[in-house]
Amino acid sequence: MKEQINAYNNVLELIGNTPLIKLNKITKNLKGNFYAKVEAFNPGHSSKDRIALYIIEEAEKKGILTPGDTIIETTSGNTGFSIAMVSIIKGYNCILAVSSKSSKDKIDMLRTMGAKVYVCPANVSADDERSYYSVAKRLHEETKGSVYINQYFNQLNIDAHYNSTGPEIWEQTKGQITHLVACSGTGGTISGIAKYLKEKNPKISILGVDAFGSVLKKYHETKEFDNDEIYPYRIEGLGKNLIPTATDFDVIDKFMKVTDEESAHTARELAKTEGLFVGYTSGAALQAVKQYDLEGEFDENSNIVVIFPDHGSRYMSKVFSDDWMSEQGFFDSVNIEQQQQIEFIK
Ligand SMILES: Cc1ncc(COP(=O)(O)O)c(C=O)c1O
Repeated sequence: MKEQINAYNNVLELIGNTPLIKLNKITKNLKGNFYAKVEAFNPGHSSKDRIALYIIEEAEKKGILTPGDTIIETTSGNTGFSIAMVSIIKGYNCILAVSSKSSKDKIDMLRTMGAKVYVCPANVSADDERSYYSVAKRLHEETKGSVYINQYFNQLNIDAHYNSTGPEIWEQTKGQITHLVACSGTGGTISGIAKYLKEKNPKISILGVDAFGSVLKKYHETKEFDNDEIYPYRIEGLGKNLIPTATDFDVIDKFMKVTDEESAHTARELAKTEGLFVGYTSGAALQAVKQYDLEGEFDENSNIVVIFPDHGSRYMSKVFSDDWMSEQGFFDSVNIEQQQQIEFIK
């Protein structure tokens, strides 16, 4: 008998079971023990692999999807990439309706992964027939055997994290986690993990991260949707200008808002101190950790898990570009040590 070759059957078998990595230098002046759940270790380099796989497999179980059918979503971001990846392996068509604001790099990446991309005008209202929401809805209605992922309004987004990320964190910390810090966009990550952890131990604090320019924190505190909270900001994937039903506000204890500038610097600091090249919202999450610490949220015995949603490579023309940082004015108030690290030999 020949020995079995030690290989995964396909890339999807690598989704989930991401590592928990202790943070050392960047948190040395804070109270408590800090652990990052690094979702960049998913094969599609983000936590969105989990929801893409889960939602598609739930549709398969219900008999809604059979090979050759079509999966539709409105995103040029991580979720689009993950859906395209799962679709390739499982033999589905993938249609992504994206805004004309999406960068060419992102659109090229999705097309490389086999997706059909509809680029829709960014400057029209959501109910305009040309908007990416309307186009996705129309394509879903017209395409027999299609599934619309609709991540902001899909309960399965929460369930994906309730069934995978939550149990992993409980197991990895041996039940000793005291605080979870996580960004909220659709809210699926924080809500699903929180629901699982609170069932295990209701004393665990669930600390959300929101952006200045987003309605989530105020809505959580007052149940009021305040249009005045909404203004443009740069962090992608964090905060929202509507209330997603994929957010369970009841399982979240608090929200903290973070700025674009401080989050960007913290993302860069993570690479330099911990060797972790992670995305903009990972910087935002750790920035919130620093602010929660200042508010006295933690003590020496706290075991804090912070979610790092994706990989730094997606932000080369943004947070990890000195030119972009300068254009935003993010270097105005700090010593530009970065620029001392490069020398051109002529
Ligand atoms: C980079 C990034 N970080 C954080 C989040 C927030 O995760 P969730 O949508 O589960 O709240 C997202 C989701 O869109 C994201 O793309």
